[in-house]
Amino acid sequence: AACAISAVFGPAAANTLPVPPAAELRETSRNLFKPIPPVEVTVKEKGVSAEQIELGKWLFFEPRLSRSHVITCNTCHSVGTGGADNVPTSIGHGWQKGPRNSPTVLNAVFNIAQFWDGRAADLKEQAMGPVQASVEMNSTPDAVEETLKSIPEYVDAFNKAFPNDKDAVSFENMARAIEAFEITLTTPNSRFDQFLEGKDSLNDHELTGLGLFINKGCVACHAGVNVGGQSYFPFGVIKRPGGDILPEGDKGRFAVTNTAADEYVFRAGPLRNIALTAPYFHSGEVWDLEEAVAIMGSSQLGHELNDQEVKAITAFLHTLTGEQPKVEYPTLPRSTSKTPRPQQ
Ligand code: HEM
Ligand code: HEM
Repeated sequence: AACAISAVFGPAAANTLPVPPAAELRETSRNLFKPIPPVEVTVKEKGVSAEQIELGKWLFFEPRLSRSHVITCNTCHSVGTGGADNVPTSIGHGWQKGPRNSPTVLNAVFNIAQFWDGRAADLKEQAMGPVQASVEMNSTPDAVEETLKSIPEYVDAFNKAFPNDKDAVSFENMARAIEAFEITLTTPNSRFDQFLEGKDSLNDHELTGLGLFINKGCVACHAGVNVGGQSYFPFGVIKRPGGDILPEGDKGRFAVTNTAADEYVFRAGPLRNIALTAPYFHSGEVWDLEEAVAIMGSSQLGHELNDQEVKAITAFLHTLTGEQPKVEYPTLPRSTSKTPRPQQ
Protein backbone atom coordinates (compact mmCIF):
# COMPACT_ATOMS: atom_id res chain seq x y z
CA ALA A 1 0.00 0.00 0.00
CA ALA A 2 2.87 2.36 0.80
CA CYS A 3 4.12 1.92 -2.75
CA ALA A 4 0.77 2.83 -4.27
CA ILE A 5 0.61 5.99 -2.18
CA SER A 6 4.13 7.03 -3.11
CA ALA A 7 3.39 6.42 -6.77
CA VAL A 8 0.58 8.96 -6.58
CA PHE A 9 1.92 11.56 -4.16
CA GLY A 10 5.69 11.10 -4.33
CA PRO A 11 7.94 9.92 -1.51
CA ALA A 12 7.23 12.77 0.92
CA ALA A 13 3.54 11.87 1.08
CA ALA A 14 4.47 8.33 2.05
CA ASN A 15 6.31 9.56 5.11
CA THR A 16 4.83 7.62 7.97
CA LEU A 17 7.61 8.27 10.46
CA PRO A 18 6.53 9.90 13.71
CA VAL A 19 7.29 13.61 14.07
CA PRO A 20 9.05 14.38 17.36
CA PRO A 21 7.61 17.25 19.44
CA ALA A 22 9.51 20.43 18.49
CA ALA A 23 9.99 21.82 21.99
CA GLU A 24 11.65 18.69 23.39
CA LEU A 25 13.74 18.27 20.28
CA ARG A 26 14.92 21.87 20.62
CA GLU A 27 16.03 21.28 24.22
CA THR A 28 17.94 18.13 23.28
CA SER A 29 19.48 19.87 20.26
CA ARG A 30 20.68 22.82 22.30
CA ASN A 31 22.78 20.45 24.38
CA LEU A 32 24.36 18.92 21.30
CA PHE A 33 24.80 21.75 18.81
CA LYS A 34 25.50 25.46 18.82
CA PRO A 35 24.43 28.13 16.33
CA ILE A 36 27.11 29.81 14.21
CA PRO A 37 27.79 33.15 15.90
CA PRO A 38 27.45 36.44 13.97
CA VAL A 39 30.62 37.23 11.95
CA GLU A 40 31.49 40.26 14.14
CA VAL A 41 31.51 38.05 17.24
CA THR A 42 33.99 35.56 15.72
CA VAL A 43 36.21 38.37 14.42
CA LYS A 44 36.30 40.00 17.85
CA GLU A 45 36.99 36.73 19.62
CA LYS A 46 39.89 35.92 17.29
CA GLY A 47 41.30 39.44 17.60
CA VAL A 48 42.04 40.07 13.92
CA SER A 49 42.10 43.60 12.49
CA ALA A 50 40.18 45.07 9.54
CA GLU A 51 43.52 45.63 7.76
CA GLN A 52 44.49 41.97 8.16
CA ILE A 53 41.11 40.82 6.86
CA GLU A 54 41.30 43.08 3.79
CA LEU A 55 44.86 41.99 2.98
CA GLY A 56 43.84 38.36 3.46
CA LYS A 57 41.03 38.86 0.99
CA TRP A 58 43.46 40.11 -1.66
CA LEU A 59 45.68 37.11 -1.03
CA PHE A 60 42.81 34.63 -1.13
CA PHE A 61 42.04 35.86 -4.66
CA GLU A 62 45.72 36.37 -5.65
CA PRO A 63 46.80 34.19 -8.62
CA ARG A 64 50.41 35.38 -8.32
CA LEU A 65 50.77 33.23 -5.17
CA SER A 66 50.83 30.30 -7.59
CA ARG A 67 53.74 29.39 -9.87
CA SER A 68 51.49 29.59 -12.94
CA HIS A 69 49.78 32.86 -11.87
CA VAL A 70 46.54 31.07 -12.64
CA ILE A 71 45.49 29.33 -9.43
CA THR A 72 44.09 31.02 -6.33
CA CYS A 73 42.71 29.70 -3.06
CA ASN A 74 39.31 30.49 -4.53
CA THR A 75 39.96 28.10 -7.45
CA CYS A 76 39.44 25.14 -5.14
CA HIS A 77 37.47 26.90 -2.39
CA SER A 78 35.13 29.15 -4.32
CA VAL A 79 33.15 31.39 -2.00
CA GLY A 80 30.44 31.35 -4.66
CA THR A 81 29.93 27.59 -4.47
CA GLY A 82 29.87 26.77 -0.78
CA GLY A 83 33.62 27.27 -0.28
CA ALA A 84 34.56 24.16 -2.28
CA ASP A 85 35.16 23.26 -5.93
CA ASN A 86 32.47 20.65 -6.56
CA VAL A 87 34.76 18.19 -8.33
CA PRO A 88 35.77 14.78 -6.92
CA THR A 89 39.41 15.67 -6.24
CA SER A 90 40.93 19.09 -6.87
CA ILE A 91 42.75 20.11 -10.03
CA GLY A 92 45.94 22.06 -9.33
CA HIS A 93 49.19 23.14 -10.99
CA GLY A 94 49.59 21.87 -14.55
CA TRP A 95 46.14 20.23 -14.42
CA GLN A 96 47.39 17.72 -11.85
CA LYS A 97 44.74 15.87 -9.93
CA GLY A 98 45.19 15.92 -6.15
CA PRO A 99 44.40 12.91 -3.98
CA ARG A 100 41.49 14.34 -2.00
CA ASN A 101 38.25 16.26 -2.28
CA SER A 102 38.50 19.92 -1.32
CA PRO A 103 36.73 20.62 1.99
CA THR A 104 34.84 23.89 2.32
CA VAL A 105 36.65 26.91 3.78
CA LEU A 106 33.32 28.19 5.09
CA ASN A 107 33.21 27.82 8.90
CA ALA A 108 36.62 26.08 8.80
CA VAL A 109 37.60 28.33 11.71
CA PHE A 110 35.33 26.23 13.95
CA ASN A 111 37.00 22.89 13.15
CA ILE A 112 39.30 21.32 15.72
CA ALA A 113 42.09 21.02 13.13
CA GLN A 114 42.40 21.36 9.38
CA PHE A 115 42.37 18.79 6.55
CA TRP A 116 40.59 15.43 6.30
CA ASP A 117 43.28 13.98 8.53
CA GLY A 118 43.68 17.00 10.83
CA ARG A 119 47.37 17.42 10.02
CA ALA A 120 47.33 21.23 10.31
CA ALA A 121 46.54 22.70 13.71
CA ASP A 122 44.92 25.91 12.50
CA LEU A 123 44.15 28.04 9.46
CA LYS A 124 47.49 29.84 9.55
CA GLU A 125 49.48 26.62 9.47
CA GLN A 126 47.07 25.30 6.85
CA ALA A 127 47.48 28.24 4.46
CA MET A 128 51.21 27.63 4.04
CA GLY A 129 50.48 24.15 2.66
CA PRO A 130 48.62 24.70 -0.62
CA VAL A 131 50.88 27.52 -1.79
CA GLN A 132 53.83 25.12 -1.71
CA ALA A 133 52.09 21.84 -2.59
CA SER A 134 53.23 20.75 -6.03
CA VAL A 135 49.75 19.52 -6.97
CA GLU A 136 48.16 22.75 -5.80
CA MET A 137 49.89 26.11 -6.32
CA ASN A 138 53.47 24.80 -6.60
CA SER A 139 55.23 27.97 -5.38
CA THR A 140 57.86 28.60 -2.68
CA PRO A 141 58.03 30.98 0.30
CA ASP A 142 60.90 32.86 -1.40
CA ALA A 143 58.98 33.28 -4.65
CA VAL A 144 55.92 34.52 -2.74
CA GLU A 145 57.94 37.05 -0.75
CA GLU A 146 59.74 38.28 -3.87
CA THR A 147 56.43 38.70 -5.67
CA LEU A 148 54.72 40.57 -2.84
CA LYS A 149 57.74 42.82 -2.20
CA SER A 150 57.82 43.81 -5.87
CA ILE A 151 54.36 45.39 -5.61
CA PRO A 152 54.30 48.64 -3.57
CA GLU A 153 50.59 48.36 -2.69
CA TYR A 154 51.25 44.98 -1.08
CA VAL A 155 54.20 46.30 0.92
CA ASP A 156 51.97 49.09 2.16
CA ALA A 157 49.11 46.73 3.01
CA PHE A 158 51.40 44.33 4.93
CA ASN A 159 52.87 47.24 6.90
CA LYS A 160 49.37 48.38 7.86
CA ALA A 161 48.21 44.87 8.72
CA PHE A 162 51.29 44.03 10.81
CA PRO A 163 52.47 47.40 12.16
CA ASN A 164 54.74 45.90 14.83
CA ASP A 165 56.77 43.75 12.46
CA LYS A 166 60.06 45.10 11.11
CA ASP A 167 59.87 42.92 8.03
CA ALA A 168 56.13 42.75 7.56
CA VAL A 169 56.10 41.17 4.10
CA SER A 170 56.73 37.54 4.96
CA PHE A 171 55.36 34.14 4.05
CA GLU A 172 54.16 33.71 7.61
CA ASN A 173 52.27 37.01 7.58
CA MET A 174 50.71 36.00 4.26
CA ALA A 175 49.31 32.98 6.08
CA ARG A 176 48.21 35.08 9.07
CA ALA A 177 46.34 37.50 6.79
CA ILE A 178 44.62 34.69 4.88
CA GLU A 179 43.58 33.19 8.20
CA ALA A 180 42.11 36.57 9.21
CA PHE A 181 40.02 36.66 6.04
CA GLU A 182 38.91 33.04 6.48
CA ILE A 183 37.66 33.93 9.96
CA THR A 184 35.03 36.08 8.21
CA LEU A 185 33.91 33.22 5.97
CA THR A 186 31.19 31.89 8.24
CA THR A 187 27.54 31.19 7.49
CA PRO A 188 25.23 32.20 10.36
CA ASN A 189 21.45 32.08 10.53
CA SER A 190 20.66 28.76 8.85
CA ARG A 191 17.12 27.53 9.40
CA PHE A 192 18.58 25.00 11.86
CA ASP A 193 20.22 27.82 13.83
CA GLN A 194 16.94 29.74 13.84
CA PHE A 195 15.32 26.61 15.27
CA LEU A 196 17.98 26.38 18.01
CA GLU A 197 17.28 30.01 18.81
CA GLY A 198 13.59 29.35 19.32
CA LYS A 199 11.90 29.88 15.96
CA ASP A 200 9.61 27.31 14.35
CA SER A 201 11.75 27.29 11.24
CA LEU A 202 11.76 23.53 10.52
CA ASN A 203 8.88 21.63 8.91
CA ASP A 204 7.70 18.20 10.08
CA HIS A 205 9.88 16.29 7.64
CA GLU A 206 12.99 18.19 8.80
CA LEU A 207 12.10 17.73 12.47
CA THR A 208 11.76 14.01 11.83
CA GLY A 209 15.19 14.03 10.19
CA LEU A 210 16.77 15.91 13.08
CA GLY A 211 15.22 13.44 15.52
CA LEU A 212 16.66 10.54 13.54
CA PHE A 213 20.06 12.22 13.24
CA ILE A 214 20.17 12.34 17.03
CA ASN A 215 18.53 9.01 17.89
CA LYS A 216 20.24 6.85 15.30
CA GLY A 217 23.61 8.07 16.57
CA CYS A 218 24.95 10.36 13.81
CA VAL A 219 25.36 12.91 16.55
CA ALA A 220 28.00 10.79 18.29
CA CYS A 221 30.42 11.97 15.61
CA HIS A 222 28.71 15.02 14.11
CA ALA A 223 27.92 17.52 16.89
CA GLY A 224 28.97 20.97 18.09
CA VAL A 225 28.87 24.23 16.19
CA ASN A 226 29.96 22.66 12.86
CA VAL A 227 27.89 19.48 13.26
CA GLY A 228 31.18 17.60 12.90
CA GLY A 229 34.80 18.59 12.37
CA GLN A 230 35.59 17.95 16.05
CA SER A 231 37.08 14.47 16.24
CA TYR A 232 38.45 11.51 14.30
CA PHE A 233 36.95 8.12 13.53
CA PRO A 234 37.64 5.19 11.27
CA PHE A 235 35.74 5.55 7.99
CA GLY A 236 34.00 2.23 8.26
CA VAL A 237 33.83 1.72 12.04
CA ILE A 238 31.34 -1.04 11.42
CA LYS A 239 31.65 -1.81 7.73
CA ARG A 240 34.43 -0.46 5.55
CA PRO A 241 33.08 0.99 2.30
CA GLY A 242 34.43 -0.40 -0.99
CA GLY A 243 37.68 0.78 -2.56
CA ASP A 244 35.79 3.04 -4.97
CA ILE A 245 34.65 5.21 -2.03
CA LEU A 246 37.54 4.52 0.36
CA PRO A 247 40.64 4.14 -1.82
CA GLU A 248 43.17 1.80 -0.22
CA GLY A 249 46.15 4.08 -0.77
CA ASP A 250 44.89 6.91 1.48
CA LYS A 251 45.17 5.78 5.09
CA GLY A 252 44.09 9.13 6.56
CA ARG A 253 45.42 9.94 10.02
CA PHE A 254 47.85 7.03 9.89
CA ALA A 255 50.12 9.31 7.85
CA VAL A 256 50.01 11.88 10.67
CA THR A 257 50.39 9.70 13.77
CA ASN A 258 51.96 6.50 12.37
CA THR A 259 49.93 4.32 14.72
CA ALA A 260 48.13 1.28 13.35
CA ALA A 261 44.90 2.25 15.12
CA ASP A 262 44.74 5.35 12.91
CA GLU A 263 44.57 3.49 9.61
CA TYR A 264 41.63 4.83 7.58
CA VAL A 265 40.79 7.27 10.35
CA PHE A 266 39.44 10.64 9.17
CA ARG A 267 37.95 13.72 10.73
CA ALA A 268 34.17 13.43 10.92
CA GLY A 269 33.12 15.84 8.20
CA PRO A 270 31.66 19.16 9.32
CA LEU A 271 28.11 19.12 7.93
CA ARG A 272 27.38 22.86 7.74
CA ASN A 273 26.33 23.78 4.15
CA ILE A 274 26.72 20.12 3.20
CA ALA A 275 23.96 20.44 0.58
CA LEU A 276 26.24 22.84 -1.36
CA THR A 277 29.45 20.84 -1.37
CA ALA A 278 28.92 17.64 -3.37
CA PRO A 279 30.64 15.36 -4.19
CA TYR A 280 31.11 13.75 -0.77
CA PHE A 281 33.76 12.03 1.34
CA HIS A 282 37.52 12.54 1.13
CA SER A 283 37.54 10.65 -2.16
CA GLY A 284 34.74 12.81 -3.59
CA GLU A 285 33.21 9.70 -5.11
CA VAL A 286 29.60 10.13 -3.96
CA TRP A 287 27.53 12.81 -5.67
CA ASP A 288 24.18 12.25 -4.02
CA LEU A 289 23.69 13.42 -0.43
CA GLU A 290 21.05 10.74 0.17
CA GLU A 291 23.57 8.12 -0.88
CA ALA A 292 26.19 9.61 1.46
CA VAL A 293 23.69 9.43 4.35
CA ALA A 294 22.85 5.79 3.55
CA ILE A 295 26.57 4.91 3.40
CA MET A 296 27.14 6.52 6.81
CA GLY A 297 24.30 4.41 8.19
CA SER A 298 25.90 1.15 7.13
CA SER A 299 29.59 2.11 7.51
CA GLN A 300 29.43 4.02 10.81
CA LEU A 301 26.28 2.75 12.52
CA GLY A 302 25.95 -0.76 11.15
CA HIS A 303 22.36 0.10 10.33
CA GLU A 304 20.65 0.02 6.94
CA LEU A 305 18.56 3.19 7.07
CA ASN A 306 15.34 2.76 5.12
CA ASP A 307 14.37 5.09 2.31
CA GLN A 308 12.11 7.28 4.46
CA GLU A 309 14.79 7.66 7.11
CA VAL A 310 17.44 8.58 4.55
CA LYS A 311 15.12 11.17 2.98
CA ALA A 312 14.19 12.72 6.33
CA ILE A 313 17.81 12.95 7.52
CA THR A 314 18.80 14.49 4.18
CA ALA A 315 15.98 17.03 4.49
CA PHE A 316 17.38 17.98 7.91
CA LEU A 317 20.91 18.31 6.47
CA HIS A 318 19.57 20.84 3.96
CA THR A 319 18.54 23.11 6.86
CA LEU A 320 22.25 23.49 7.75
CA THR A 321 22.80 25.82 4.79
CA GLY A 322 23.43 29.28 6.27
CA GLU A 323 23.75 32.79 4.90
CA GLN A 324 26.64 32.69 2.46
CA PRO A 325 29.34 35.35 2.90
CA LYS A 326 28.95 38.37 0.61
CA VAL A 327 32.46 38.92 -0.65
CA GLU A 328 33.30 41.93 -2.79
CA TYR A 329 35.88 40.78 -5.34
CA PRO A 330 39.08 42.75 -4.68
CA THR A 331 40.82 44.85 -7.33
CA LEU A 332 44.41 43.61 -7.10
CA PRO A 333 47.46 45.88 -7.48
CA ARG A 334 49.33 45.50 -10.76
CA SER A 335 52.68 43.79 -11.21
CA THR A 336 55.86 45.84 -11.66
CA SER A 337 58.97 45.17 -13.73
CA LYS A 338 60.41 43.44 -10.63
CA THR A 339 57.54 40.98 -10.27
CA PRO A 340 58.55 37.41 -11.21
CA ARG A 341 56.80 36.15 -14.35
CA PRO A 342 54.46 33.16 -14.45
CA GLN A 343 56.16 29.81 -14.98
CA GLN A 344 55.04 26.45 -16.36
C1 HEM B 1 42.11 21.91 2.47
C2 HEM B 1 42.39 26.74 2.54
C3 HEM B 1 44.42 26.55 -1.84
C4 HEM B 1 42.62 22.09 -2.35
C5 HEM B 1 42.00 23.22 2.87
C6 HEM B 1 41.54 23.66 4.16
C7 HEM B 1 41.59 25.02 4.18
C8 HEM B 1 42.10 25.45 2.90
C9 HEM B 1 41.21 25.96 5.32
C10 HEM B 1 41.10 22.77 5.30
C11 HEM B 1 39.61 22.77 5.47
C12 HEM B 1 39.15 21.71 6.41
O1 HEM B 1 39.93 20.83 6.75
O2 HEM B 1 38.00 21.74 6.82
C13 HEM B 1 43.13 27.08 1.41
C14 HEM B 1 43.79 28.36 1.19
C15 HEM B 1 44.39 28.28 -0.03
C16 HEM B 1 44.07 26.98 -0.57
C17 HEM B 1 43.80 29.52 2.16
C18 HEM B 1 45.28 29.31 -0.70
C19 HEM B 1 46.42 29.71 -0.05
C20 HEM B 1 43.98 25.37 -2.40
C21 HEM B 1 44.12 25.03 -3.80
C22 HEM B 1 43.60 23.77 -3.95
C23 HEM B 1 43.16 23.34 -2.63
C24 HEM B 1 44.71 25.93 -4.87
C25 HEM B 1 43.45 22.93 -5.20
C26 HEM B 1 44.42 22.86 -6.14
C27 HEM B 1 42.45 21.62 -1.06
C28 HEM B 1 42.29 20.21 -0.73
C29 HEM B 1 42.20 20.15 0.66
C30 HEM B 1 42.27 21.53 1.14
C31 HEM B 1 42.24 19.04 -1.72
C32 HEM B 1 42.09 18.88 1.50
C33 HEM B 1 43.48 18.30 1.63
C34 HEM B 1 43.60 17.18 2.64
O3 HEM B 1 42.72 16.97 3.47
O4 HEM B 1 44.64 16.50 2.59
N1 HEM B 1 42.33 24.33 2.11
N2 HEM B 1 43.33 26.27 0.34
N3 HEM B 1 43.37 24.34 -1.74
N4 HEM B 1 42.44 22.38 0.07
FE1 HEM B 1 42.84 24.31 0.18
C1 HEM C 1 31.47 12.06 6.74
C2 HEM C 1 26.67 12.23 7.54
C3 HEM C 1 27.24 9.10 11.21
C4 HEM C 1 32.02 9.78 11.01
C5 HEM C 1 30.12 12.31 6.60
C6 HEM C 1 29.53 12.98 5.47
C7 HEM C 1 28.19 13.04 5.69
C8 HEM C 1 27.92 12.40 6.96
C9 HEM C 1 27.13 13.68 4.80
C10 HEM C 1 30.28 13.53 4.27
C11 HEM C 1 30.93 14.85 4.60
C12 HEM C 1 31.62 15.50 3.41
O1 HEM C 1 31.82 14.86 2.39
O2 HEM C 1 31.96 16.67 3.51
C13 HEM C 1 26.40 11.34 8.57
C14 HEM C 1 25.08 10.90 8.96
C15 HEM C 1 25.25 9.98 9.95
C16 HEM C 1 26.66 9.89 10.23
C17 HEM C 1 23.78 11.39 8.36
C18 HEM C 1 24.20 9.12 10.64
C19 HEM C 1 23.37 8.38 9.84
C20 HEM C 1 28.57 9.09 11.54
C21 HEM C 1 29.14 8.40 12.68
C22 HEM C 1 30.50 8.59 12.63
C23 HEM C 1 30.77 9.39 11.43
C24 HEM C 1 28.33 7.65 13.75
C25 HEM C 1 31.58 8.10 13.57
C26 HEM C 1 31.55 6.86 14.09
C27 HEM C 1 32.29 10.36 9.78
C28 HEM C 1 33.61 10.46 9.20
C29 HEM C 1 33.45 11.11 7.97
C30 HEM C 1 32.04 11.41 7.83
C31 HEM C 1 34.91 9.95 9.81
C32 HEM C 1 34.55 11.42 6.96
C33 HEM C 1 34.62 10.25 5.99
C34 HEM C 1 35.66 10.46 4.92
O3 HEM C 1 36.82 10.14 5.18
O4 HEM C 1 35.33 10.92 3.85
N1 HEM C 1 29.12 11.97 7.50
N2 HEM C 1 27.33 10.72 9.36
N3 HEM C 1 29.58 9.68 10.83
N4 HEM C 1 31.36 10.94 8.96
FE1 HEM C 1 29.36 10.82 9.15
